Amino acid sequence: MEEQINQMPRIGDLAPDFEANTTYGPIKFSEFNKGSWVILFSHPADFTPVCTTEMSGFALRSEEFKALNTKLMGLSIDSIHSHVAWVNNVKKNSGVLFNFPIVADIDMKVSKLYGMLQPNESETAAVRAVFIIDPTGKVRLIMYYPLNVGRNMDEIVRALKALQVSDKHNVALPLNWVPGEKVIVPPPKTVEEMEEREKSDYEMMDFYLAKKDL
Ligand code: BEZ
Repeated sequence: MEEQINQMPRIGDLAPDFEANTTYGPIKFSEFNKGSWVILFSHPADFTPVCTTEMSGFALRSEEFKALNTKLMGLSIDSIHSHVAWVNNVKKNSGVLFNFPIVADIDMKVSKLYGMLQPNESETAAVRAVFIIDPTGKVRLIMYYPLNVGRNMDEIVRALKALQVSDKHNVALPLNWVPGEKVIVPPPKTVEEMEEREKSDYEMMDFYLAKKDL
C-alpha cells in the first residue's frame, strides 16, 4: 500500500496507462493520448475555491491548448456526480464550462499510479500535480503544488511551448524564456564543431553558452 502511494512516474518514463470514468464518459488514457500532447492534472476537491479558479483557468485557455495539439484531462478523488454538479454550478455562476474530461478517481487508482496522493499533505485528496505528456506517451515535465497554493497557468503554457520548441529545433531554453526570445544552441561535441561555432553569428558568452534567434 505504502509502496503504491509513493510510486510516481519520472521524467522520461512512459505515462502509466489507465481506464477511468470521466465527465466525458469512460476513457483509456493511451487512446486519449494518441497523436497529441496531454496535460494531466489533479486538484484536491470539487466545490473548493482555489480549484475552481484553476479549472476555470484551464477552460478559459482551452483553445490555446488545442492550437498546441494538446488535450487537457483533470482528476480528483470525487465521484462523477460531484464532478458533474460542480461543472454545472460553475457554468451557471460564471459562464465557464470545464470543457475537458475530469477523471472521477473515487477509488484513488489513478492518483496512486501518478503519485498524486502525498499522505503528509493529505491522505484523501490529491495534491495539485501537472504531468505534461508528449504524443509518444512519454512524461516530459512534472509540477507538484500543495493544497493551498494555486498553479500559474502562464507557466504551464510556457513550459509546454518550451518543450515543443526544444523538440522541433533541437535547442534548449534559458531562464525565463518566452516565445520570441533567443534560444540556446546545444554545446559543441567536437573540436570541429567548436571551431565552427567561433565563426558563427551566435550571441556568445563563451563557446558553451551560445544563443540564436529561431
Ligand atoms: C481549494 O481549492 O481552495 C482547496 C482545496 C483543498 C484544500 C485547500 C484548498
